[in-house]
Amino acid sequence: MKQKAVFIKTFGCQMNEHDSEKIYRILRDHDYKFTENIDNADLVLLNTCSIREKAEHKVYSSLGRLRRLKDKNPKLIIGVGGCVAQQEGERLLHRVPYLDMVFGTHNIHKLPEFIHDVEQTGKRILETSLYDSVPSLGVCPNPREKEIKSYVTIMQGCDNYCSYCIVPYVRGREISRPSREILEEVRRLSEKGVKEVTLLGQNVNSYGRGIAGDMTFPQLLHSINEIDRIERIRFTTSHPKDLSPELISCFGQLDKLCEHIHLPVQSGSNLVLKAMNRRYTAEEYITKVERIRKACPKIGITSDIIVGFPGETEKDFEDTLKLIGIVKFNSLFSFKYSDRVETKASTLPEKVDDKVKGKRLSILQTYQKLFTLTKNRELEGKEEEILVEGPSKTDPTRLTGRTRSNKVVNFEGSSDLTGRIVPVMIKRAFLNSLEGEINTTYCS
Ligand code: 5AD
Ligand code: SF4
Repeated sequence: MKQKAVFIKTFGCQMNEHDSEKIYRILRDHDYKFTENIDNADLVLLNTCSIREKAEHKVYSSLGRLRRLKDKNPKLIIGVGGCVAQQEGERLLHRVPYLDMVFGTHNIHKLPEFIHDVEQTGKRILETSLYDSVPSLGVCPNPREKEIKSYVTIMQGCDNYCSYCIVPYVRGREISRPSREILEEVRRLSEKGVKEVTLLGQNVNSYGRGIAGDMTFPQLLHSINEIDRIERIRFTTSHPKDLSPELISCFGQLDKLCEHIHLPVQSGSNLVLKAMNRRYTAEEYITKVERIRKACPKIGITSDIIVGFPGETEKDFEDTLKLIGIVKFNSLFSFKYSDRVETKASTLPEKVDDKVKGKRLSILQTYQKLFTLTKNRELEGKEEEILVEGPSKTDPTRLTGRTRSNKVVNFEGSSDLTGRIVPVMIKRAFLNSLEGEINTTYCS
């Protein structure tokens, strides 16, 4: 029988990217192959994100474009998973009559069953249950051939209830995965040739809460550091309020732990931080950054910022700029605030005008560019260890990889070097990448 083809489109964050990879691996074990050409697909899955308004709009316009495909091929199965599926549920089936399946964030592992049901009965599937312990958390079949980097889920959901955030509603309560399972998965990945693991969770710093007697996050990092053949460890995301001295000292102690931390600050105004329910002040954040840099002077620090939170004044915004000037992040992801259903912030009055949000965002991004470029230029003339990921997507005659501090470096070299860690001299720095030259002894 002809092998069926699945096309998966992923919206949003690393968590979703990893969920899509899990979906792919599950379906591969049920005899599906992956296609990059949507016109050849027997199954189209959208793995969606609802963290911000813009992400959600993109999902609806993609769905609109799928109607033509279904008209051409009525046997095509279309499914929507992820956060929009979780949030919209039945409304999605109602709004999109040619949609076959809606599956929530805790139901990935049941996909083969759902597909089978659609094929056999033609019935439409809706499954958005959230569970106290998530079977899909543990589902992670073997990686693809020659995979160099892999995500590893260490926890799911979030209990922090930042007032603007939809995650606790669409990804459920915070659940940590037993360390035994995580270590087993990392060992299996290492045996398959994976060199770098990124530990994933909404707030990895609180890993272990709720599973009495198991490891803390720093202990987990120490154990992973001992696993042979794994050469690099990363993690994301960290909540500043839970960043412990033990975790900070891991950066000085563990040779495989890469010198990068993503530490979302969200705002530099204490009034806004309070209204956001972030539970730290700007001063406390700055002190933590100083401690991290003291433990690990080479560390790259990146962050997220929201502008135009309800009630944010010019003075609040200036406080955010002030914090950016003090911390000097390596890079920043910045967003205009958008109301999300069920969240506390969506009920707050004093919404900031969209034009004001746009102006603030542009001022902030222009200001940050200065620091990003300066930080990148500090690497010019220095030799950096690069894990080679393969040919560059924009120029396949060149190789691409990342520094330990997570900067993209492009350079000439043989594709045989893919998967190896090589020394590269940084020649030129740009805003989003660096250009390097490999040490000639590695060129052959
Ligand atoms: N509006 C704008 N940005 C948001 N984020 C989360 N919720 C919202 C929202 N309602 C941003 C935060 C978070 C990142 C993943 O998305 O900065 O860290
Ligand atoms: Fe959302 Fe806050 Fe949880 Fe991050 S910590 S996922 S911003 S509620």
